[in-house]
Amino acid sequence: MKWEKERNKKVSEYILIFHLTALTLVVMALFGIFKVPFIYNKVMDNYLAINVIIFSSFALCGIAYTRRDNLSSMTLKENPGISGLIVTFIVFALTVSIVVFAELNGRSLKILYLIPVIYASVNHGKKYGIIYCCFCSVAIFAWNLLYDSWEGPSKTFEVDLILTMIIFMTAWLVGGFIDIERVTLKKLEELANKDELTGLWNKRYFYHVLNKAFDKAEEQKKELSLIIADIDNFKIYNDTLGHIKGDEVLKIAGEIIKKVIPKEVTAARYGGEEFAIILPGYNSQQALEVAEKIRKNIESYSFDGKEYLPGKKLTLSIGIATYPFHAKTLKELIVRTDDALFSAKSVTKNRSKIYYSVFDEICASFKFSDRDLANMLKTLLSVIHAKDRYTRGHSERVTEYTRIFGQYLNLPKKEQEILEIGAFLHDIGKIEIQREILNKTSPLKDEEYIYTIRQHPIWGAEIIEQVAVLSDCSPVVLYHHENFDGSGYPYGLKGNQIPYSARILRIIDSFDAMMSNRPYRNALSYEECLKELQLGAGTFYDPELIEAFMNVVDSIYYLHRGEATKDIDVEAS
Ligand SMILES: [Fe+2]
Repeated sequence: MKWEKERNKKVSEYILIFHLTALTLVVMALFGIFKVPFIYNKVMDNYLAINVIIFSSFALCGIAYTRRDNLSSMTLKENPGISGLIVTFIVFALTVSIVVFAELNGRSLKILYLIPVIYASVNHGKKYGIIYCCFCSVAIFAWNLLYDSWEGPSKTFEVDLILTMIIFMTAWLVGGFIDIERVTLKKLEELANKDELTGLWNKRYFYHVLNKAFDKAEEQKKELSLIIADIDNFKIYNDTLGHIKGDEVLKIAGEIIKKVIPKEVTAARYGGEEFAIILPGYNSQQALEVAEKIRKNIESYSFDGKEYLPGKKLTLSIGIATYPFHAKTLKELIVRTDDALFSAKSVTKNRSKIYYSVFDEICASFKFSDRDLANMLKTLLSVIHAKDRYTRGHSERVTEYTRIFGQYLNLPKKEQEILEIGAFLHDIGKIEIQREILNKTSPLKDEEYIYTIRQHPIWGAEIIEQVAVLSDCSPVVLYHHENFDGSGYPYGLKGNQIPYSARILRIIDSFDAMMSNRPYRNALSYEECLKELQLGAGTFYDPELIEAFMNVVDSIYYLHRGEATKDIDVEAS
């Protein structure tokens, strides 16, 4: 954060200036003790030598100050670490050596004991300042005792006593202020970065950590996983039990998340009832384990009023994506995690889902030159996804189901590929439809239906035809709303006039629509859905294909519930 950088820079400047000044004093003392030949001679007396040294040292400080932008992270650290303690001890040991040498040469430089004490106080706080104050006091009085045994009672005992008091006051004051500053800063940081209700980090801090973690993962070529979790049916809970109870749920959920996540990961409240977790160095499977631990803990917690919720329990849906496997940029990582969450939420909820894209898999089989075009279509599709969240998961699911049904029907490889790509892009024409119409929960007006919704297969086919490599898929898109009895749109084609692949997609499109929650209605049960499909045989759907579909619908249903999706998908028990 900018203010933090500014602050660290200022603190670094002060520390650096102190270090250099202390160094200057030490150098001066050394020159004084050893009477350096190139300065101390008959022409240049001792005073001139000291002036030269002071001038040189401060010139050095000036140079360092002008180069302060290059200062590394010299900041106040809560824990000095082994290296910090070693450096402080070296400063102390050097000071003791210089003072002893000076004493042996008939000079008293005990005032230099202030240096290690100030150094320890500034760098590590009051506790270490006082410790070094004690070390210095021992050194001062030990010298007194030794001197006592050699030369009789020390003449400087009183002065040394006063010096020790000054050193102690310095350690107490400087270290005390440093400690207060550190604690205040920590409190301020917490106030600015923590979510008051859940005690987790807030969204602003989440982005700050995520940016840093992503840069590090990129630099060190390591994995970085992201989890976004959303409480299912939270609106129902809030509407039934009130917002105070809703806040309690968020608080408990936050506590559970904090309790179960590993230390090295960062958990934040991402939105109203959404939580995000950053997992540096975690691959998708490791992130999935963390996600499942959270989901199971929330599911088993006895929240007040959970009996009012569907399934009589409060649950979480979780999306997971991993850099670099699923996304190349930070923005992509967030979008794909959100996609995975949506996919987990749109069907059965209460599940953890790793990002998976059928279209990415299809694109991988394209020639390199065609991938750009395909990605362009994917971008177009993402525009529709932004307008209509239902289409997002729907395209992916329909594509997966056509794969199963097409294989059951023994479609030739090329036809199968056309069917899958057509299935993925079948609603691309919705890009022309306004967001308000796509998300309308009340019945559509005639003109909205005729001039927009009914036109989307034509608009979709027009877009597809622009891309030579995908042009074979345009009939699937153009005729996917034609009914077997001729009552469909846009052309009212009948029976075998409708391409075979479009008749397949017509069934799968309806199956997924009926099995999914929509803003204006809840999903049908599996049994209700089968009944509707059978009732529609001969009117909406090709009866022979419906018969075949009934043989394969179970495996599609298990896939739909996430029970047969390789090892990438985990379903609630
Ligand atoms: Fe459609």
